[in-house]
Amino acid sequence: MPAQIRLLEKEEIEEANYIWSQAFRRGRRGDSDWVDNTHGGTFTCGVWDQNGLQAVVVVCDYRVHLGAEVIAPMGGIGGVACLPASRGKGYAGDALRYALQQMRERGFYLSALFPFSWDYYRRFGWEWVGVRREYRVPTGILQVVPETGNVRAYRPEDRSALIATYTAFAQRYRGAFLRTDVAWDQILNSTEKEHTFTYVYEQDGRIEGYFTYRGGEEKETGLREWVALTPRAYRGLLGLLRRHEMQVEHFKWKAPADDPFWAFGYHWDIETSIEPATQGRVVDVPRALEAWRPAPSVCGRVVIHVVDDAAPWNTGTWQVSCEDRNVQVRPGTAEPQVTLDIQALSQAYYGTPDLDAVRNAGRLTVHDEAGYRLLRDLLHGPIMWINDSF
Ligand SMILES: CC(C)(COP(=O)(O)OP(=O)(O)OC[C@H]1O[C@@H](n2cnc3c(N)ncnc32)[C@H](O)[C@@H]1OP(=O)(O)O)[C@@H](O)C(=O)NCCC(=O)NCCS
Repeated sequence: MPAQIRLLEKEEIEEANYIWSQAFRRGRRGDSDWVDNTHGGTFTCGVWDQNGLQAVVVVCDYRVHLGAEVIAPMGGIGGVACLPASRGKGYAGDALRYALQQMRERGFYLSALFPFSWDYYRRFGWEWVGVRREYRVPTGILQVVPETGNVRAYRPEDRSALIATYTAFAQRYRGAFLRTDVAWDQILNSTEKEHTFTYVYEQDGRIEGYFTYRGGEEKETGLREWVALTPRAYRGLLGLLRRHEMQVEHFKWKAPADDPFWAFGYHWDIETSIEPATQGRVVDVPRALEAWRPAPSVCGRVVIHVVDDAAPWNTGTWQVSCEDRNVQVRPGTAEPQVTLDIQALSQAYYGTPDLDAVRNAGRLTVHDEAGYRLLRDLLHGPIMWINDSF
């Protein structure tokens, strides 16, 4: 039995570092860098027993775009660890449940994490969201096109225009980070040991796309980010990859599921892998639904029943109504029209898989078709995409 579950004080972080060192750094001393690129509200939860601090979870204060209008506070779960002699006692699970309560109190109505095991976090309500493509492309099959003439090396004074390009791209999706200055420094700045190479596609005085990378090998180099707002920017930038033929045999980059790369000339030597982007969760059902902006045509009411074992405040029947793009959620008294668990609702809330796909997978029960259609239309919108990890 844990003696205490609470937030760590600043001066106790050293004890958490000891646990993280055992769990993630093979005993290497030093600080963990969890808080570096967050928005300031990061906190750490701990579980103590008679032997002192045994398990920790850090919740990073991130903000994510949910389409063009909403920026959601998202608790990014990291540093989940328990000392070996205390594993299997439920301590990490206790810390996660406590972290959920804390997130709710602080207004983080969404959460995401990069799991070591999908099963482990599914039990606490997180479920896979988003589909990530990764391309591996031989440089030699790409073509230099006239648009490649509009590609030039990035200059420090381009920074805000490049961030605006990223933001326009991020707003096409649900889940992409609103990055801090520190996060942008990590992406765009050179390090003591390596230069960063960034190229922008510029036309009519506007940056329409860019890619950036640091390091890599001759056999294969991964791009940190590839963003193109227009087909001409995409094609132009592909041509600049071709110009690297002497240094790099294959480029790899990650892309959302609706990325148009295949449209620019498919080739058998292109490899594309797909996998879930991350594991996400709605932490606070009423708040999350009320923050969402559905399409203007969505008008009506649906009663849903939600089951959430790890966050019991979500469990229950909710009446969800929508008018003029505003969603209102109240405890429901009528019979539910759709019953679903928090994992299924979280997937649909993030937009990938959408509610129809969740239903096709047998992950929800429909009691009333009209209610189902309203919920589906209400959650309809951009697909999920994230190009940061933590
Ligand atoms: C993962 C970890 C945090 C679990 O801590 P814990 O306090 O033992 O967790 P809980 O007691 O809440 O849950 C234990 C249960 O988790 C599940 N579990 C543990 N490791 C698992 C794994 N690798 N894959 C799937 N499930 C796992 C098991 O069902 C286990 O139950 P059991 O004791 O009946 O076998 C701990 O093993 C750890 O610190 N590992 C090293 C650090 C790490 O990899 N953290 C994850 C970062 S995302």
